[in-house]
Amino acid sequence: MQRWWVVAGLRAAVSSVKKIFPLPKHVAIIMDGNGRWAEKRGLPRLIGHRAGTDNVRRVVECFDAYQVKYLTLYAFSTENWRRPGEEVDGLLRILAEMIDRETRELHRRGAKLRHLGRIDGLPPLLQDKVQEALEMTKNNPGMVLNIAFDYGGRAEILEAVRRIIQDGIPSEEITESVFSSYLYTADVPEPDLVIRTGGEIRLSNFLIWQTAYSEFYSTSTLWPDFGEKEIEEALVAYSQRERRFGGLKAEGEAREG
Ligand code: IPE
Ligand code: IPE
Ligand code: MG
Repeated sequence: MQRWWVVAGLRAAVSSVKKIFPLPKHVAIIMDGNGRWAEKRGLPRLIGHRAGTDNVRRVVECFDAYQVKYLTLYAFSTENWRRPGEEVDGLLRILAEMIDRETRELHRRGAKLRHLGRIDGLPPLLQDKVQEALEMTKNNPGMVLNIAFDYGGRAEILEAVRRIIQDGIPSEEITESVFSSYLYTADVPEPDLVIRTGGEIRLSNFLIWQTAYSEFYSTSTLWPDFGEKEIEEALVAYSQRERRFGGLKAEGEAREG
């Protein structure tokens, strides 16, 4: 399809969805289904991971058009090291290629890249690439794009506990906000919406502290096929949710003043 058609279609979608506020400020996505996408076509799983990585730009552009300020993408979990060595090596290679290919464009767009997860388990050259990309984009004012790579919610919580102990914080001072400030997501608001592609209905160790009150949306669409139409559907579903945070309905609150 011609590029301007895509852009025109996106603009129309944005204006129609914008009428049904509220839009989420932070969307977090579990990008699942690359392997099945490839297997369905009789292709090796790594081809699916490549197709999934190629889809990232389109999804970032679309959420940027909706002015979603924070986008978090779950790319590799602490449990994904259990996969065959060949697949893990391929995923590390694909991440390196993606940084080489996409960082400049993200920088041009004014996006700020962040990494959520452990960096020290990655190969040294990849660590350098990640650090360079973070450094290049760190002062950008636009969308904040968090890439969760070698990320696990439990590991994140344990690391926070260890650092709190090392800093000698007295137990009575450990509030929820102090604890949150020790997570990888310090100064990122909690996700309003978590989307999982590939049909499973589970978090798989993703942002387990931060998603306590997030809205959850699962679609059977496999990640490489997840595009503008599916994003619009997810945002429409989100706009119809009633978020209560343990309180009562918003009208009730308004009535009670
Ligand atoms: C998601 O796709 C990407 C990673 C977990 C790295 P999968 O590789 O899990 O794809 P399926 O679930 O096997 O289809
Ligand atoms: C979750 O997908 C992790 C990522 C998308 C990076 P998995 O495919 O690893 O999750 P499970 O194993 O089905 O729970
Ligand atoms: Mg999977």
